[in-house]
Amino acid sequence: MSDEILLKVTIDNITVEVPAGTTILQAARKIGGDVTPPAMCYYSKLQGSGGKCRTCLVEVSKGSEKDPRPMPKLVASCRTTVMDGMEVKNITSPRVLEARAGVVEFLLLNHPLDCPICDQAGECHLQDLSYEHGKQGSRYEFQKRTFKKVDLGDYIQLHMTRCILCYRCVFTADQLSPKREHGVLDRGDHAQIATFIQKNLHNEFIGNVIDVCPVGALTDKTFRFKNRVWFTKPVNAHRHCDKCCGEVQLWLRGDEVFRVTARKDEWGEIKEASNGKTGWICNECRFEKKNLADWIIEGPTNVNRHSVISQNKYVGLVKPTETFPKIMKGRNPKLLMDIHSVSEVNKPNIHLSQLERPAHSTDFNQ
Ligand code: SF4
Ligand code: FES
Repeated sequence: MSDEILLKVTIDNITVEVPAGTTILQAARKIGGDVTPPAMCYYSKLQGSGGKCRTCLVEVSKGSEKDPRPMPKLVASCRTTVMDGMEVKNITSPRVLEARAGVVEFLLLNHPLDCPICDQAGECHLQDLSYEHGKQGSRYEFQKRTFKKVDLGDYIQLHMTRCILCYRCVFTADQLSPKREHGVLDRGDHAQIATFIQKNLHNEFIGNVIDVCPVGALTDKTFRFKNRVWFTKPVNAHRHCDKCCGEVQLWLRGDEVFRVTARKDEWGEIKEASNGKTGWICNECRFEKKNLADWIIEGPTNVNRHSVISQNKYVGLVKPTETFPKIMKGRNPKLLMDIHSVSEVNKPNIHLSQLERPAHSTDFNQ
């Protein structure tokens, strides 16, 4: 039996026990749901990540059982470890919500609002964050900084204008490749992710920078502008690969493989593979295996993030409570608004809502 000492921490009035050394963010992830602060730069699979973006700020209203004084300032939950008896406020603290709105406004100072044409739309952490905490307008009166798009090798495009300088891609390149490939150059307003003399990134695992990028700054050139992510259907698949775990998510439209990515967990981070290691995938699996025949399909991906990509897909769907039959004394709204009998669009014997397949031309009156 393990004799590990567990510390009690209460986050938004929910108490959880965690081992010493756990950060507030990890403890909150153990509880899950809204209690968990958002994280734009922290990535549990990357050493040294976190502490850059400040989206994970929380209020520590009681330091510990021994020293119950509150912490005077809001703290970055990804970098602050828990103490026994600590009490933390996230969504129950108006100070935190106000600060988070300020952080979102700050991140959006230079970030373009080009979601309608951005490949990351629908799975962008900044997009979700700004919907949840953003303000309607910006007080920034100056021109946003812009950069030219840069090709990082044959498969990756860097659109620095969208970068929020979270450093995740730098850590990924540092930790997955034998030599340093790129980094942040310059300071302040001029800071940018670059390969200096625009040296290509040639590492076998460099495609993973696309998966860790929380925004649309690093995108897959084999997928760019081909489809909106919410029109594609994610399925889990694997193949035998000598270089990586070969366990991926295919994004399909019909039988066409539009994109291959690593599998992600509910925090948007790359999941563990069946070998227990982080499921980083190699460039060959990601960019070169775009035929369905290359893969063994396991089944639909269970998307458990609150993003638009989880809409209309698979298990866990919470439908709104239907109050109409209650108000109308049991009458079903569909019958109240039954246009089937008067519509001449489809054939009278065909109920489009009952088809278990897409409707096609033979179902309609020609
Ligand atoms: S390119 Fe993406 S992953 Fe890299 S620092 Fe910018 S936002 Fe972060
Ligand atoms: S996630 Fe904690 S500072 Fe960015």
